[in-house]
Amino acid sequence: MRIRLFTPNDIPAIATIVREALRENYPTSLYLDIHRWWREGFLVADRDGHPVGFLAAVINADGHARILMFAVSAPFRRQGIGRLVMDAFVQACGLRGIRRIELEVRVSNDEAIRFYKRYGFELAGMLPKFYTDGEDGYKMVRHL
Ligand code: ACO
Repeated sequence: MRIRLFTPNDIPAIATIVREALRENYPTSLYLDIHRWWREGFLVADRDGHPVGFLAAVINADGHARILMFAVSAPFRRQGIGRLVMDAFVQACGLRGIRRIELEVRVSNDEAIRFYKRYGFELAGMLPKFYTDGEDGYKMVRHL
């Protein structure tokens, strides 16, 4: 397993993970925009040349990192791949002098919330009807 930077060739595989794991369908341009904004914040878990997980983040106006998407393909979960990706991302944040990471997560997403809590994220507020289907979100924050 290798954690490496995203390249545009990864888009079809990443889009499949996004459809299956995050139930979203984004245009190719979104991935290219995120890549352009912060290359070191778009990481891929690569197994034998195939992306099996990824994390995509941006730096917001306050200089904080915001994780937009984070997922591991279902057959590869609970094997420590999420941890490897998150560790590499925290390292990338450190190199940029970033002191705070933020994200939003569905209130029903127990697995991800447990993962984030294990990695030092704290609940930082409720976001009513944050998702297009009407579900509430939690804001979570980790200080570095
Ligand atoms: N054997 C058994 N358990 C293990 C092993 C192992 N070898 N290695 C790790 N684990 C456990 C960990 O201890 C952890 O346990 P916990 O959930 O009780 O804390 C659990 O497996 C997950 O840890 P990892 O394996 O490092 O993480 P994983 O690769 O499963 O990825 C992720 C975590 C990304 C949240 C995954 O569950 C996922 O893709 N979920 C669906 C998509 C999703 O909800 N993404 C987040 C949305 S929010 C956003 O995108 C901003």
